[in-house]
Amino acid sequence: MAGMFGKIVRTVLMLPVLGFVAIVATSCTQLGLNYASLETDNKPAAYPPLEITSAADWTATTAPDLRSALETHIFGPVPTGLPARLISSRVVDPRYKGGRGQLEEYLIEIGEGAEALRFHLAVAFPTTVEGPVPLVIGQTFSQNDSVMENWTLTSPFTGLPGDGEPDSGGAMMGVVKFIFGSYIAKAPTEDYLERGFAFANFYAAELVPDRAGPARAVLSRFPQMADGRRPTGAVAAWAAGYFAAMDILDADPRIDPSQTAVIGHSRHGKSALLAGAFDPRIEAVISHQSGTGGASLSRDKPGETVKQIVRGYPHWFDPGYAAYGDDLDALPVDQHMLIALIAPRRVLLGNGRRDVWSDPNGAYRAAEAASLAWQTLGAPGLVQNGMTDFNPGAGVSYFVRPGGHGIVREDIDAFLAFLDAGFNGSTSSYDTAIR
Ligand code: GCU
Repeated sequence: MAGMFGKIVRTVLMLPVLGFVAIVATSCTQLGLNYASLETDNKPAAYPPLEITSAADWTATTAPDLRSALETHIFGPVPTGLPARLISSRVVDPRYKGGRGQLEEYLIEIGEGAEALRFHLAVAFPTTVEGPVPLVIGQTFSQNDSVMENWTLTSPFTGLPGDGEPDSGGAMMGVVKFIFGSYIAKAPTEDYLERGFAFANFYAAELVPDRAGPARAVLSRFPQMADGRRPTGAVAAWAAGYFAAMDILDADPRIDPSQTAVIGHSRHGKSALLAGAFDPRIEAVISHQSGTGGASLSRDKPGETVKQIVRGYPHWFDPGYAAYGDDLDALPVDQHMLIALIAPRRVLLGNGRRDVWSDPNGAYRAAEAASLAWQTLGAPGLVQNGMTDFNPGAGVSYFVRPGGHGIVREDIDAFLAFLDAGFNGSTSSYDTAIR
């Protein structure tokens, strides 16, 4: 009897473990126990092709038309131009990261009146270099305390500063890091500060929750733009965090507003691309493994289809995007157009070869097609000889490493090489002999 009881208890206790293994196993088949093809010449080119007659025509007509088409068919309105104001700020740690910087926290309000939304921005300013300095703004899955590794930052849930102790759930975080890399929930703040960059971060779900029901509720009362529109998808709404961060920090004499990069991984990489495509204050975009609805083409693709993404994450996009799940031929745009709208500014597309779910091959073909916008505007677009020939100094830079979905040290080195090339004018000695 006792033996039987013990067996039942053991089985019940094992259930979460088995569930976890099942999730990982299914994710592996989806996230890629196979490899992305490195051949691009034998695959279809991006469709519809970009049609650009001249730089003037691109700037005056084609680019605004494409922005509007991407809003209509995929993302919904992108909330540019909303008023942002600083509610409060505080110095969190004047000797952050061993004295490399000062950590500050800002409470920012977007919009006005009853609709206004608030979120926290954590900002690390370098203290060992003379300003004004370049700024990198991150949008993340994780809260600011984890990203900045400071446990006194304000919790978005309680609105109270942390007690200085790391959150519980350490064992789970160990598993997450094992699967998705050691930088999945923290930023390389030391590296940024040592290079003389300020780094700001916000937790996207503090602006719009990342679950369908709660997201739709917040979107339905998101602050309206001057023309009365409001975002209808979370990917677009999250971009408001980048815009508001620039509104506040560009006015800070320690920041050089002409040197701003935005960074995002996966769903946040989709948002980073969109922000770059719609806000010319952004000089450089780092979009890592952004996949479907990001840098990867929607047509002829391995990995996640439009049908799958709108079913799994209906709140990320305008509800109208779902109609193309069964009728991709009718989709009048594709993701190379999103990338093209960043020209002539700079963009880095990060990829993992085993992250077939996000289709690294389709992202390269999108980058190739988007390059025409850079060429038309007299800037170097994609200047590399295939997917593995990483060139961090180009206008469109494409990077692929071995391994799957996540953020590992190799990714960070690629990001830093790209930022150095733009902000520090250095021709990086980045080792391209990988992969
Ligand atoms: C899922 C989703 C992707 C997304 C990714 C992420 O895998 O299907 O589209 O990019 O989550 O945000 O991690």
